Amino acid sequence: MSLFSPITLHDVTIPNRIAVSPMSQYRSVFGYTNDWHMVHLGRFAMGGAGLVFCEATAVEERGRRTPGDLGIWEDAQISGLQKITAFLSAEGSVPGIQLGHAGRKASERRPWHGETPVNEEDITLRGEAPWTAIAPSPIPYGEKWTVPQEMTLKDIQDVLDAFRQAARRSLEAGFKVIEVYAAHGFLVHQFYSPAANQRTDAYGGDFEGRIRFALEVADAIREEWPENLPLLFRLSATDWLEGDGWQVDDTVELARRLKAHGVDMIDCSSGAIGGAQKPHRMPVGHGFQVPFAERVRKEADIKTMGVGFIWDPKEADQMITSNQVDMVALARELLDNPNWPLHAAEAIGANEGRKLWKDEFGWWLSRRDRLVKKLGLR
Ligand SMILES: Cc1cc2nc3c(=O)[nH]c(=O)nc-3n(C[C@H](O)[C@H](O)[C@H](O)COP(=O)(O)O)c2cc1C
Repeated sequence: MSLFSPITLHDVTIPNRIAVSPMSQYRSVFGYTNDWHMVHLGRFAMGGAGLVFCEATAVEERGRRTPGDLGIWEDAQISGLQKITAFLSAEGSVPGIQLGHAGRKASERRPWHGETPVNEEDITLRGEAPWTAIAPSPIPYGEKWTVPQEMTLKDIQDVLDAFRQAARRSLEAGFKVIEVYAAHGFLVHQFYSPAANQRTDAYGGDFEGRIRFALEVADAIREEWPENLPLLFRLSATDWLEGDGWQVDDTVELARRLKAHGVDMIDCSSGAIGGAQKPHRMPVGHGFQVPFAERVRKEADIKTMGVGFIWDPKEADQMITSNQVDMVALARELLDNPNWPLHAAEAIGANEGRKLWKDEFGWWLSRRDRLVKKLGLR
């Protein structure tokens, strides 16, 4: 088994173990796709990634993180997504969608506009107005953030229904994989983390209460998303907080429970819950979150995806061959080089004669390779 071995999840075979990690572009207007999304995602299919995730896609309009988030809260949004999945599939990649809800992190400015809450100034600057965020508890995300509206039981049912409808639309749009964005301080993470959930009803309190929403999201999606298509969850494996924060042991147990609710793979990220307590500094380094994925894989007996600071082809291959993870996801390295999978294949000897390249590129490159070799130019 190597980075370039296919992997089959139910009826879906992904041609290699490389996923394009979801990357928000904040380029949508009212949640709709445009040419940017097609070109952004299309490059990764041309570059040989097995699974191409589109960015965090809001299941409700109020669940957008920024005014530029992609959305899937109305049927009219399906056709734009469908064009993208058609292209990705035609080029041999498996199209995936990440479904999310920002919860208390909603109504935020884009990273390059400050990652601070949208306010009246944004109306003048960009024609973008702030909106009210909802959350499990009325605790703001950060110091300068407004207090979110505490979700009622009806709000919870409404959001579950939004996930259900989003799953139906994802199927119609031609996606073959759904990943739930249950990490990085967004709504599902806000429910399971004790740092953001202080509810006293059935959706808060102990571990069982706090994970209830995540399990119900999985159930709601499975009502519309067929058994033969894979469902993934991206979790923050730890909050990086002392004491009461969410810990890796909790992630292992949640992974076991999600598996029983029809989830096929856990994508292990970490951190970003926000709130008043300062987290530890993340020990960022090559593949630093992979040990979380390895633990979840072994202890919860579920497939996992490793992500974060992965760019060395041999290391990525090693993560697969040594059974640490089932897949790797890359984000920034692919922004830098969307052809990374093809180069990675060359680096581990799995792409002789540029056979994995599309003919439109590979024919020319292999011809040039031979000429360069003959002339001794490099
Ligand atoms: C431009 C950009 C946008 C991102 N948007 C998302 C997102 O929509 N959903 C998500 O789960 N993670 C998002 N992330 C995090 C990445 O998916 C990934 O987990 C992180 O960047 C670590 O991987 P890397 O070291 O390969 O970049 C984003 C990262 C980048 C660079």
